[in-house]
Amino acid sequence: MEKILQYIKENQEQFLSELKTLISFPSVSNSKDHQPDMERCAKWLGDHIIGLGMKNVQIFPTAGHPIVYGEWLEAAGKPTVLIYGHYDVQPAEPLDLWKSPPFEGTVRDGNFYARGATDDKGQLFIHLKSIEAFMKNYNSLPVNIKLILEGEEEIGSEHLEPFLREHKNLLKADLVLISDTSMFARGVPSVCYGLRGLSYMQIDLIGPEKDLHSGSYGGSVHNPIQALTEIISSLHDKNGRITIPGFYDDVLKLSKEERAAFKKLPWSDKKFAKELSVKELYGEKGFTTLERLWARPTLECNGIWGGFTGEGAKTVLPSKASAKISMRLVPNQKPDKIAKLFEKHIKSITPKTVNVSVRNLHGGEPAITPVDSPGVRTAILALEKGFGKKPLYQREGGSIPIVVQFKKILGTDSVLLGFGLPDENAHAPNEFINLDNFFGGIRTVAHFYNELPNFMK
Ligand code: BES
Ligand code: MN
Ligand code: MN
Repeated sequence: MEKILQYIKENQEQFLSELKTLISFPSVSNSKDHQPDMERCAKWLGDHIIGLGMKNVQIFPTAGHPIVYGEWLEAAGKPTVLIYGHYDVQPAEPLDLWKSPPFEGTVRDGNFYARGATDDKGQLFIHLKSIEAFMKNYNSLPVNIKLILEGEEEIGSEHLEPFLREHKNLLKADLVLISDTSMFARGVPSVCYGLRGLSYMQIDLIGPEKDLHSGSYGGSVHNPIQALTEIISSLHDKNGRITIPGFYDDVLKLSKEERAAFKKLPWSDKKFAKELSVKELYGEKGFTTLERLWARPTLECNGIWGGFTGEGAKTVLPSKASAKISMRLVPNQKPDKIAKLFEKHIKSITPKTVNVSVRNLHGGEPAITPVDSPGVRTAILALEKGFGKKPLYQREGGSIPIVVQFKKILGTDSVLLGFGLPDENAHAPNEFINLDNFFGGIRTVAHFYNELPNFMK
């Protein structure tokens, strides 16, 4: 490993300059305008992994964005790791809040700033550079590797799921390794074993068929914005519980042991509130913040619009009002069932004064991964070697829906080995990845590949 670690140390500048190139493609998956950028980014990744010595490199077109695949299978008798990452990113808007351009990677104060820096281009690149360290030094890897890099994670991985079904054999592996989550805190590495799921809905209300003069008509019809806010505010009770009938039916109760383990983690509500500039935290009564973040379902209004929002004043009684509502789910809630319960409930509480339509935009299943597998034991040791510190076990509030599909379709468990930090502004302006964690991640992943055969004999 000496040579490998030396190589990682000596090539930091080179790694960063390549990461800058990867970052420079505005691979925003949710917009048709960026289709060519998605294709150029996939092509660059394909070429890059060919350069690393990966074999059978293919760029699979899909009805959406391309999937990049590559493999190196010459470690006879050794385990096979399927490495998953996503090269698509969230939109960079609002651009005026960025201190440096989102698609020009910029180093400031030991951090690398760019859209995708931590979610997930920077993290998937950690794996490529770790592979490179072995290939450049030994022209060989300690394990067999299959790489799958998708371009639709941020929009629900719609075409990856059928791809898994069609390519079961190609993707056969002993474990899936994913770096797309965060460490517990700065200087506190962790292995993640749980993700929340998601159900994403839209509500559209229509009152009068056109906008009305609020003087001539105000007082005669129900303003759809008012109706919508009445609906939305009724979705939580005074204890912060969600009021949709049946919503909690399938929620897996936190065990005593898990609650005790969460309580042992180095966490402060006060510090957390301060970081977020809020005077007080808020959430479901009867649960701690970490329980609410990781193991309890939530319902959030992501956006709400309607009527006049321009400059100055315009007196209008609007015809329409809409909202985007997402629900984070926990095991064993099912996104389809929750979407149906949501739709039924919204329809039942909508007053006759307005017309409602409810749409299910997308969903994803929550996941719990095993904590006593050879893969996780390897990850624990690798983190200890890579960061010089014993890692913690944690869950996450975010979602990576494909994790459940890897299990269901391929029968393969995932190891969630994340190198982000919770405050790296993923999905927001000024996204970054901390460089110590980026290089620590490359070292850790190298140790992971190197140690895995010892744990999987
Ligand atoms: N990398 C995140 C998932 C994540 C977020 C893990 C926070 C841990 C902490 C991923 O790219 C993501 O953003 N997922 C989406 C879900 C998707 C279906 C749109 C999410 O969680 O909103
Ligand atoms: Mn991600
Ligand atoms: Mn994301």
